[in-house]
Amino acid sequence: MFSILSACLPDMKQRVLMAMTFATALISQAQPATFLRGINLNGPALKIEGHDWESGKGARNLTVTGKTFENQRVLLKPPVDAERTRMIRSSVWGNDVNVTFSAVPEGSYQIYLYVWEDNNNERFSLKVNDKVVVEAFESGSEGMWKKLGPWSAQPVAGKIKITATAASHGAANLSGIELWQGSGDIPQLAKAGFAESPRADQIAFFENKIRPVLVEHCYECHSATAKKIKGGLVLDSRAGVHKGGDTGPLLTPGDPAASLLIEAVNHLSEDTAMPPKQKLPANVIADLETWVRMGAPDPRNTEARKATPEKPLLLICGGPLTTAANALLLAPDIASRIIVFNILVTHYGYNGKDGWAAYIVAKQTRYVDWGGRGRGFWDRNSNLPN
Ligand code: HEC
Repeated sequence: MFSILSACLPDMKQRVLMAMTFATALISQAQPATFLRGINLNGPALKIEGHDWESGKGARNLTVTGKTFENQRVLLKPPVDAERTRMIRSSVWGNDVNVTFSAVPEGSYQIYLYVWEDNNNERFSLKVNDKVVVEAFESGSEGMWKKLGPWSAQPVAGKIKITATAASHGAANLSGIELWQGSGDIPQLAKAGFAESPRADQIAFFENKIRPVLVEHCYECHSATAKKIKGGLVLDSRAGVHKGGDTGPLLTPGDPAASLLIEAVNHLSEDTAMPPKQKLPANVIADLETWVRMGAPDPRNTEARKATPEKPLLLICGGPLTTAANALLLAPDIASRIIVFNILVTHYGYNGKDGWAAYIVAKQTRYVDWGGRGRGFWDRNSNLPN
């Protein structure tokens, strides 16, 4: 084992360099992506965010399999503009829904998918060209909708296929799809935007009316120092407010009605009623709405504590060793906060071809469990350089 491993090292170093050069090249070269097609899967052609969408019925180079359903009376949560409302509330559904774009030229693409729930929560998984992009998605309660993605894709034999699968009798409701060409950033519509340099009166409003509410009613579960951060959302920094949580943006600056934050504090749906136990007083909710309308001015700067070495940032569970090693290569600065569990190895953390990956994982992560054996095992049993 020792001799095989040392033989691997030069090779490993070369691959690290190659991977890094490759990553840098990717970052510096990507042009912004361009809108290619928008499909209203079970409704008419319309215009959304300035883009012309096609009707999914009979669109060229497109096959859609699934049952069709429309209910334009359900109230969407959160509310959204009229065109999108119409698109979202008509859908194709079932436990095996497929949307296939054909005659797609070679290249890189990105996909957004709109899904919604017309009555009861459903659970389904989503794939792009047979690769899982979202596992066990929960659609939520009546009226909830999501714009999921972007997921990157490359055509296989000219095809990009989006699949939703649920248990039998399950029902995924797919409303619309955006296909973007290119792997670069997707240009966002110029929106009202966050108040970037708040005025003195806005700062006073934040300090008097908003900060105390967040501290008293939200930090317990939504701050960098919370025992466990809930919903991936931190509210003790401006960056956290701008980033939002696991399911997307916290708020749309200037538009309380289209803001998850306002939906949550109004207890509009069970899933997102915040704070979970007790609704805030009406005047406090009104203050939060005013704050969103102002563009959420927020003077806080660097309050969020960075994840400390004691706090793991990323847990990699299972999967091939190379996956973990690639993650480390692409983000070397977070390596010390990564914990790896139950990695797939065949022999004491060294799986033949992937010696280079074993080396990186063993040396760079905070903790690694070689299928039940701790890192100590690896260290005692190898001659890896320090
Ligand atoms: C006692 C814990 C607790 C408190 C206090 C709390 N939340 Fe939450 N919050 C949660 C949990 C748990 C979730 C995740 C819900 C889920 O995933 O279904 C969540 C999720 C959210 C989300 C959705 C995030 C996303 O993108 O999925 C928002 C918005 C939110 N909370 C806002 C607030 C606000 C604003 C306050 C204070 C007024 C607050 N919460 C107070 C527990 C809490």
